[in-house]
Amino acid sequence: MTHTPLLHLSAADVRRALPMAEAIEAMRDAFGQLSGGQVTLPPRQHIDAPSEHGTALVMACHSAVQKRFTLKFITLFSQNRLKGLPLIHALVILTDGATGEHLAVMDGASLTALRTGAASGLATDLLARPDAAVAAVFGAGIQARTQLQAVCCVRRIRRVSVFDADTAAAERFAVEMTRQLGLPVKRAASAGQAVEQADVICTATTSTTPVFDDRDLKPGTHINAVGVFQPGKAEIPPATVCRARVVVDHRASALEEAGDLLGPLRQGLFQETHFGTELGDVVLGLSPGRRNAEEITFFKSVGVAIQDLCAASRAFDNACRLGIGTRTTEEK
Ligand SMILES: NC(=O)c1ccc[n+]([C@@H]2O[C@H](COP(=O)([O-])OP(=O)(O)OC[C@H]3O[C@@H](n4cnc5c(N)ncnc54)[C@H](O)[C@@H]3O)[C@@H](O)[C@H]2O)c1
Repeated sequence: MTHTPLLHLSAADVRRALPMAEAIEAMRDAFGQLSGGQVTLPPRQHIDAPSEHGTALVMACHSAVQKRFTLKFITLFSQNRLKGLPLIHALVILTDGATGEHLAVMDGASLTALRTGAASGLATDLLARPDAAVAAVFGAGIQARTQLQAVCCVRRIRRVSVFDADTAAAERFAVEMTRQLGLPVKRAASAGQAVEQADVICTATTSTTPVFDDRDLKPGTHINAVGVFQPGKAEIPPATVCRARVVVDHRASALEEAGDLLGPLRQGLFQETHFGTELGDVVLGLSPGRRNAEEITFFKSVGVAIQDLCAASRAFDNACRLGIGTRTTEEK
């Protein structure tokens, strides 16, 4: 009996197979499918290992468009930094929805960073001012890099500030991203200094409390916040959430996990309808993008499995076409 060989994609393979501009298009597809009702998406499972300061997430879904499944097993261990290890480790399995055959196993940490950055790139494309030229990044870690790459794909960014609680990490980020993007990326001395000129802000930190002051924002700023995926935590000040036009990746997931929104909601500062718009609604033209030059727009991402599916699917198709990765066949 013949079997489809399984394709193995390393982190480097994933990055080669999925350039950021394509990842952003994959996210347009992902969020359109999600808000268009073409995705079967069970709630993700959180498995905590509290004594190790770790969490594992199990994220699975099926797309009626790609006719494929994905399963991602992702771990986040907050003390890894002290051991010189990344916060996140992950594997993704891509499976054929017609036969159930497994098509590929790929590095999920690189795929997660790409698709999380790409979602913010898409949100920035749909919600930021067209003339946005100054970006601020909070956090100088793995997600922050792809956040900035994605924003630079959709707007003509001229300068960037980075602020991190770890000054040395911010310095490294500034040097590396200046070289990579060919534009000035500077470490900000304070959160206020980072925010005050920014047209686009990305927060990709492990902070549990707001990382900037609402009063420092200038009118018309667009914010992408990806760091928080648990209630009881927040990167964005409640005052900003209250006055912003909020767009979420997925309503049901935001109601479970988006601490930035759930805190002010539970304090009675707004109703659930305040975050009733999904990014996919904007993709599908069911909700407008930015409505005027002055409004603060806020994309809150907790991360959704369809992002993994659309990114993995595109990486797999490209890898097959370009001969990227390693194939294994098993006799059964
Ligand atoms: N929304 C999503 O889909 C998604 C996907 C992946 C990761 N994440 C989340 O993104 C966050 C960052 O992940 P990562 O892989 O880049 O982690 P990382 O450890 O590589 O980087 C996090 C950075 O945040 C910095 N930081 C912590 N508190 C800060 C503060 N108050 N102000 C400024 N900087 C601060 C740390 O010093 C560190 O450099 C995590 O919370 C992770 O759970 C979200």
